[in-house]
Amino acid sequence: MGKDVIIACDFPSAVETLDFLSLFKGKKPFVKIGMELYYAEGPQIVRAIKEAGHKIFLDLKLHDIPNTVKRAMAVLSRLDVDICNLHAAGGSAMMSAALEGLTRGDGSRPLLIGVTQLTSTDEKTMNNELLIPGKVEDAVMSYARLASESGLDGVVCSPLEAGKVHSVCREGFLTVTPGVRFDDSEKGDQARVTTPARAKELGSDYIVVGRPITSSPDPVAAYERCIKDFVTEE
Ligand code: C5P
Repeated sequence: MGKDVIIACDFPSAVETLDFLSLFKGKKPFVKIGMELYYAEGPQIVRAIKEAGHKIFLDLKLHDIPNTVKRAMAVLSRLDVDICNLHAAGGSAMMSAALEGLTRGDGSRPLLIGVTQLTSTDEKTMNNELLIPGKVEDAVMSYARLASESGLDGVVCSPLEAGKVHSVCREGFLTVTPGVRFDDSEKGDQARVTTPARAKELGSDYIVVGRPITSSPDPVAAYERCIKDFVTEE
């Protein structure tokens, strides 16, 4: 898959999500469904968005014993999503089991990406509460390498980490990067942000963009601006 813009549809209900997507008329943006929407509406919202013709990144961040994750992934795979994810902190056995669960009878499967270290975790919390010594960036690279060696397709990380992740992981390993803002938009609660154009220069494969599109007075124009800056070749 080439570079693309994924819209984080962080809405509390199916009605709001489908109303929002109806603004896009003939266009079919790649959509991220997170825990809020999934827990509110269940698998039916995934089916409805898929039937409407969108690609889907189902962001449920699984983390449990390998057998449980394997069986849960088999269920998600039947929903025919394009990308799903888990916490790389679950370890290589959990990641391998997840891949087994995701793989369908015909050998096809959704892409599987790993969450490395949540961006809400700072060095102090990581050192003192999670008992992981060292710098956050080193932990991110270590999880990315483990995910790559375990056969995952990529990781979620900051665009600022994309280049380094590519350098320590196998060829073609994907970086899916939130924390994207236009120069002229609100940062909100994101601390380290990057523009779509800068994310492209830094080598991100997919940008995940929420509020700069969903809270824009003209979401379609904001989405097209992301496509122009991140995807379109000069
Ligand atoms: O609105 P905004 O553009 O900040 O949305 C970013 C999306 O990416 C949200 O759905 C958020 O949960 C998700 N995300 C993130 N940082 C991470 C992992 C996921 O912002 N490290």
